[in-house]
Amino acid sequence: MKNISIKNFETERLLIKRPTIDEQFTLWNILRDEQVNRYYFPTPDRIFIKNNLSKDNIKDLKLARSIFLNQLNDWERQQPFYEKKIESINSEDNSQKFTWSIFLKNDEPIGQITVQPSDDYIENPSIRDVGWYINPKYQGQGLATEAANKVLEFMFNEVEIEKIITSAAIENPGSWRIMEKLGFERTGVKKSTYYDDNDNILMCYCYSCDKKKFLDRKISNSKVL
Ligand SMILES: CC(C)(COP(=O)(O)OP(=O)(O)OC[C@H]1O[C@@H](n2cnc3c(N)ncnc32)[C@H](O)[C@@H]1OP(=O)(O)O)[C@@H](O)C(=O)NCCC(=O)NCCS
Repeated sequence: MKNISIKNFETERLLIKRPTIDEQFTLWNILRDEQVNRYYFPTPDRIFIKNNLSKDNIKDLKLARSIFLNQLNDWERQQPFYEKKIESINSEDNSQKFTWSIFLKNDEPIGQITVQPSDDYIENPSIRDVGWYINPKYQGQGLATEAANKVLEFMFNEVEIEKIITSAAIENPGSWRIMEKLGFERTGVKKSTYYDDNDNILMCYCYSCDKKKFLDRKISNSKVL
């Protein structure tokens, strides 16, 4: 895997850029929309640990989620985190955390895409996880697929990551459809920290993708992508 810094990209409808502090408040506002964060952010382990809560019962899951969402909704608490992230990207010590802000061509920030170290990063640094979100106003137009395609091309061809391992709630087909369109293979299911309106704890589909699967898929879908 190569130590390459984040590059800017232009696609048919998008500018996919190295993040700056300027668009972070707009992006945070998109992210705090429940429609967006519902299946985007798993409730972090630290919340369960700190509050002595269990992931196995719905009462605890709901409490952990509400603590997490309160933190997420507090810009004063979030702002230093965003500033630190941008500082770290600018100082080029962030080579392991690839994040792009997604803009329309008129420079409106509409979302974000990340390719982060996966949970087993220490054992294998070239295995990555991905995440994406798009302002609900612009969903369903193929924009996330357009951005993800460009970014994964860079990650596999230039950064030379080995593999992506990720997951998405079964109830979130908008996300796992992108994965399937980009050549990801479904490898199983796992329990999540998400739950539905009837208090059922939800499962995620697990996915994996390597360069060969990504390139093969691109060739067979060259018209779509
Ligand atoms: C996931 C997300 C980024 C997709 O963005 P988008 O720009 O709408 O995605 P695209 O238009 O490129 O593609 C979505 C695909 O999913 C399909 N899809 C979307 N919603 C769907 C639904 N409810 N049921 C079935 N398919 C659905 C679309 O039809 C499209 O597939 P197609 O091209 O074969 O028709 C967006 O929905 C989002 O921001 N969600 C909230 C954040 C999130 O959950 N992120 C992922 C965490 S794993």
